[in-house]
Amino acid sequence: MRAHILRTPGEDAQTKLSEAPIPRPGPGEVLVENHCAALNWGDTQIRRGHYPNLSHLRFPLIMGEEFAGVVAEVGADVVDIKVGDRVAASNLDRGGFAEYAIAPATRIIKLTDRIPFDQAAAFFVVARTAYHLLFSAFNLRAGHRVLVHPVSGGVGLMVTQMAVEVGAKVIGTTYSPHKMAQALNLGAELVIDRNQCDFVPEVMAHTNGDGVDLVVDSLGGETLWQSFDALALYGRVVNIGETQGWPEGAVRDLRDKLYERSTSFAGFELDVCEGTAHWTRGTQYCLERLASGKLAVPIAQVFSFEQCREMFAALESRKLSGKCLLRIKD
Ligand SMILES: NC(=O)c1ccc[n+]([C@@H]2O[C@H](COP(=O)([O-])OP(=O)(O)OC[C@H]3O[C@@H](n4cnc5c(N)ncnc54)[C@H](OP(=O)(O)O)[C@@H]3O)[C@@H](O)[C@H]2O)c1
Repeated sequence: MRAHILRTPGEDAQTKLSEAPIPRPGPGEVLVENHCAALNWGDTQIRRGHYPNLSHLRFPLIMGEEFAGVVAEVGADVVDIKVGDRVAASNLDRGGFAEYAIAPATRIIKLTDRIPFDQAAAFFVVARTAYHLLFSAFNLRAGHRVLVHPVSGGVGLMVTQMAVEVGAKVIGTTYSPHKMAQALNLGAELVIDRNQCDFVPEVMAHTNGDGVDLVVDSLGGETLWQSFDALALYGRVVNIGETQGWPEGAVRDLRDKLYERSTSFAGFELDVCEGTAHWTRGTQYCLERLASGKLAVPIAQVFSFEQCREMFAALESRKLSGKCLLRIKD
């Protein structure tokens, strides 16, 4: 089969389209014939060697965490999944940017015909992350205010849609003003261009000095620290990433900051709920909305299978808003 392989991570490292053997599923595993795969920010961090934890990955590595296609083979002990099923899949050990890929059966989601492969490949990480940020790590309700850094990414656009659906108000930030319109079209009340102003006074002015109930922050760095000043009484900051850099500062300072308005700080990792009722609930919530059309993962660009390097370059250039996909099979 053909696969996009990264020999070793590094600032200038590139994937190479190469021949590789079709993998065979072991016990509890499923082999998928891929139709589509999606790129995540984490893949760009792996390419550059900046991923928070690379120790579980073996290089040379077939890249790609999330993909969708048709089940080609099932390993021993796999129940309820059969050859020919349409599925979305994720593998934290990667392998998705290939004509065939393995996933643990626990990370396979069966699809109805109503969900096309492009949406199926693109929702696994960003839609389910948005769901758990809003409804597991927080209890979002109508009237709550949410601040999203950045609103323009895959996660930000899904958070916007889900928050608006329950009647919450969304304020977003971006460093790329050409991306503001998309979030506004999805129902964000305000999008702040961070090249033009500091977001804290903008948020405070927009909320009549009250602040927001929830900050979803995937940037880290200074953004994370400043976000506490945009919180309402009892508000919460949930951090899910460090696109802008690793946060600095001492725990003592954080404690003092939290005491200012009885606020709280949470970390977030999507995969910690694998195998629990939370996992099933989040998946079900997303699938129902994708099938009914209430929710759609914004697709920024679909690349042909040969264009993997171009896809990485496009995401890293920050020109696009939403998900980048590899079309593997029609
Ligand atoms: N913890 C978890 O379970 C979990 C789950 C999913 C995602 N994540 C993390 O959440 C983050 C966002 O994911 P995503 O899928 O939404 O990513 P994405 O679609 O690739 O969007 C990333 C956005 O970050 C902004 N950005 C890029 N480089 C930047 C820089 N140097 N400084 C400041 N902003 C920068 C850009 O927005 P603008 O150009 O608009 O400013 C870009 O559109 C990633 O770090 C990802 O690893 C974590």
